[in-house]
Amino acid sequence: MPPCVLGIDIGTSACKALLLAENGQLLGSETIAYGLMQPRPGWVEQDPASWINGAQIAVQRLLAAQRPVRVAAVGLTGQMHGLTPLDASGRVLRPALLWNDQRNAEECAWAVDAAGGPQALHAYTGNGMLPGYTGGKLLWMRRHEPALFRRLRHALNPKDYLRLVLTGEIATEVSDASGTGLFDVRRRVWSQPLMDRLDLDPALFAPCHESPEITGRVSARGAALFGLPAGIPVVGGGGDSIIQTLGSGVLAPGAVQTIIGTGGIVASTLDEPLDDPAHRLQVFCHVLPEKWHAMGVTLNAGFAMSWAQRLLRGFSDEAHWSYDDMAAIAAHSPAGSRGLIFLPYLNGERAPYADPALRGGFIGLISLHQPADIVRAVMEGIVYALYDIYTLMAAAGIQADTLRASGGGARSALWRQMQASLFDCQVVTTQGAAEGAAFGAALVAGLGVGLYADPAEIARICRPLTIEVVDPAMREGMQAGFSVYRALHAALAEHLHGLSRTFGGPPP
Ligand code: XUL
Repeated sequence: MPPCVLGIDIGTSACKALLLAENGQLLGSETIAYGLMQPRPGWVEQDPASWINGAQIAVQRLLAAQRPVRVAAVGLTGQMHGLTPLDASGRVLRPALLWNDQRNAEECAWAVDAAGGPQALHAYTGNGMLPGYTGGKLLWMRRHEPALFRRLRHALNPKDYLRLVLTGEIATEVSDASGTGLFDVRRRVWSQPLMDRLDLDPALFAPCHESPEITGRVSARGAALFGLPAGIPVVGGGGDSIIQTLGSGVLAPGAVQTIIGTGGIVASTLDEPLDDPAHRLQVFCHVLPEKWHAMGVTLNAGFAMSWAQRLLRGFSDEAHWSYDDMAAIAAHSPAGSRGLIFLPYLNGERAPYADPALRGGFIGLISLHQPADIVRAVMEGIVYALYDIYTLMAAAGIQADTLRASGGGARSALWRQMQASLFDCQVVTTQGAAEGAAFGAALVAGLGVGLYADPAEIARICRPLTIEVVDPAMREGMQAGFSVYRALHAALAEHLHGLSRTFGGPPP
């Protein structure tokens, strides 16, 4: 029986498991959705049991549909930055705090001071301390939940919690470790000096590997839970937004990736760690050893689209307004949405403005605006947010000759065309990228056990599928819209902070 590799992604809205053959062909995939909790504005939590339950069902169904298969290795990925707090016996102490949880701006500011200022912090880790990162979440827990914090022994990212259940091993890898804000990305090791400054016990953090390394094997318990044979190697894997870059074939400088998932990402692969002068980009270790990854993340891509979807469903009696319906109706509005601008900051923002207290808005409404204009404005606003991040990257010397689009949003030809037109370059989708991070996780597993020889083989697997080019009329309308979008942040931020102060929300 020819070998295949299994990729498992603990996403924000669902767990996906998929199997890839030796030639990179997708054999099958299963997705199990789960919910999240927003107990207060800016707080986002999830029960880790829902990840494990989702992964169990997804893997069992996948294997049942594909049997007989010989799984040569497992690769794990998942939402980055989440804090899964465990006690000494590996029990979960409280719901996990997710990447888009915005409650810890004060603790992050404290961390920057305790490190000796932004430059000193940057010298320790190569990054700032953004409210999304795991480090600030730990500091929040220490300050606000001291009794629980005293029982804390392990702080794991979501995919590493799955690793513990699957293999019994506590381990992580360089890409997710980078997203804690406590990792020295240049040297690819935990920053013990920074932990000393912040008075955090280094024993809280898992031993760290390069991403393709084998970190353990499926245990007897893992085998019983997931229906996999015991003993299969489990490689490090990687944080979703980094491994997804590999899964789109962005393996060297030149191509830039955009992801429209729950969040939106603009990312590039680097041969050297980049010193972002403004400290607004995330510069992390890549899942390929000796490579780095630069990205900016907006918290409000698919998140804003699904908000608009719920809103439209609320206004109509029918349960229509699928994303396909929304893209189809948006096509009836011209580029620029007849002068309507959507600010997508529905859950604060991370890049280019690290600002938990920002709020969103529609600006430029007139009575002639139709639902088509509103939906188009939402789609354009999300592309403006991506381009706003790209301008930071361009200032740091990262130029796109091609965009490789992935995530659920890449399924929409209109959304891809909007990106091509505003970024002024072609947009391609690639084989497998629609499967998201699980595809990259399976590729990294294959690299780890030698099923795929090297990155060149990965590049061959990720061959282009569709190409969109610039539409001059769309470019004109979107450039006009973006110039206003850009100015609105500076004009409105203070007032939006005021609304957060008065009506509830994370502190600015
Ligand atoms: C990356 C990030 C998101 C999450 C969600 O920094 O915050 O991509 O990993 O998937």
